[in-house]
Amino acid sequence: MVKICCIGAGYVGGPTMAVIAFKCPSIEVAVVDISVSRITAWNSDQLPIYEPGLDEVVKQCRGKNLFFSTEVERHVSEADIIFVSVNTPTKSRGLGAGKAADLTYWESAARMIADVSKSNKIVVEKSTVPVKTAEAIEKILTHNSQGIKYQILSNPEFLAEGTAIQDLFKPDRVLIGGRETPAGQKAIQALKDVYAHWVPEDRIITTNLWSAELSKLAANAFLAQRISSVNAMSALCEATGADVAQVSHAVGKDTRIGPKFLNASVGFGGSCFQKDILNLVYICECNGLTEVANYWKQVIKVNDYQKSRFVNRIVSSMFNTVSGKKIAVLGFAFKKDTGDTRETPAIDVCKGLLGDKARLSIYDPQVTEDQIQRDLSMSKFDWDHPIHLQPMSPSAVKEVTVVWDAYQATKNAHGVCILTEWDEFKTLDYQKIFNNMQKPAFIFDGRNVLDVAKLRKIGFIVYSIGKPLDPWFNDMQAMP
Ligand code: NAD
Ligand code: UDX
Repeated sequence: MVKICCIGAGYVGGPTMAVIAFKCPSIEVAVVDISVSRITAWNSDQLPIYEPGLDEVVKQCRGKNLFFSTEVERHVSEADIIFVSVNTPTKSRGLGAGKAADLTYWESAARMIADVSKSNKIVVEKSTVPVKTAEAIEKILTHNSQGIKYQILSNPEFLAEGTAIQDLFKPDRVLIGGRETPAGQKAIQALKDVYAHWVPEDRIITTNLWSAELSKLAANAFLAQRISSVNAMSALCEATGADVAQVSHAVGKDTRIGPKFLNASVGFGGSCFQKDILNLVYICECNGLTEVANYWKQVIKVNDYQKSRFVNRIVSSMFNTVSGKKIAVLGFAFKKDTGDTRETPAIDVCKGLLGDKARLSIYDPQVTEDQIQRDLSMSKFDWDHPIHLQPMSPSAVKEVTVVWDAYQATKNAHGVCILTEWDEFKTLDYQKIFNNMQKPAFIFDGRNVLDVAKLRKIGFIVYSIGKPLDPWFNDMQAMP
């Protein structure tokens, strides 16, 4: 029986390994982590991450050929294939701070593999890493163990949160990079054999190591660039009276462009896009490619602009002050169908409003009060230096209350912001919400999920990203 061990039981390691175990009953899969609380949760009825379909997959295999454990060393030493899926955050201090990937967790995992291995291993990079990381890992492994052969593969993960199980069941492609030597090719084949249990052969792409590592950064950069492009257009739409949804539809009909990933929003979030583009920028700079670095930097600049533009729109339309006003925030996760808040645009929007002294009442169906308070009191880039290992922040932000119901959040509020596109926000009773709000009642839809005409009929002053502006906003802009 082939034995797989995955180091890192996070958003990638957990679901990916659960699907491998589900699709390959003949393979034993152990997912290990240094976080005791994470592993305890994986072994309970309340999994540590919310992901549609995940519970069913885990329940089918857990205890049979899928195991979650803190016995990291034992499982690593017994495995034939070791996936490393630890976090690779942006460095928050030192050389390359604010850009370069912090490979501390990766390096410590590699050193541990070298310490405990007694047989030859295939080590698979599942984490997103800078190009050439495989070479560094290979050096750490070979310089720290004797007589043991390692093959390093790059097998980046393309799943998106909220649709992870769907994406893993039917991936657009599986990418495997390895050395172009006979031993490297044999290792590629061994990993191909795992995926071949359910992925059609023509969807498994094999490349050299550096192409695989770079393709992952490139794919995320391209995706994020699409969002920044449509968000840049949304600002122009508001200035000209065009409707960004209509523009996206018309542009996306061109088969060379395609319709997906063209929804204007308050900005992209999530643990990957910003981190991976910053990493790409750093790699370009290190290679002396200043123009290329600047090109990609702009994707993040537009994203930051979109978030601050949204806050400015709220403040300026509410008579240039939100001081002491209650603002309801509906949605805090970085997208729907996940409880993940890493780099969610809600953090920047909330911090912007708090900076203008607003009082916030926040509701998200999947995010806890502890998490929201932690996010709002943490510094940029600190979030990915495992939050579950950090103590709860001592001082909660007192102008923030977190409630478990959209109606409670909006009661007596001056304004409502939609920051995540949860389906339930589309079907709220907005007449009831309007009746219970201060007047004039404002709605700022950062996800374009609401029926603007219907809300205006109720009496709301509505702002929806990239949609023709309510005359109110032009009047306010004209104010000195
Ligand atoms: P995560 O923070 O959810 O999980 C990482 C886990 O690794 C944590 O539970 C941490 O405790 C554990 N860990 C760290 N060091 C360890 C060690 N030495 N030994 C054992 N466990 C250790 O992160 P994630 O979202 O799963 O992302 C993991 C990697 O995958 C990152 O490189 C990320 O860029 C990449 N990725 C993420 C996504 C996504 O959607 N989240 C998608 C594709 C790729
Ligand atoms: C992303 C990549 O899609 C995935 O392939 C990679 O493995 C990890 O990073 P993820 O961050 O989980 O996945 O979600 P994604 O669906 O890409 O959304 C990222 C952000 O962009 C979210 O905040 C989302 O709301 C936003 N977004 C997405 C838009 O604003 N508009 C869109 O049209 C699409």
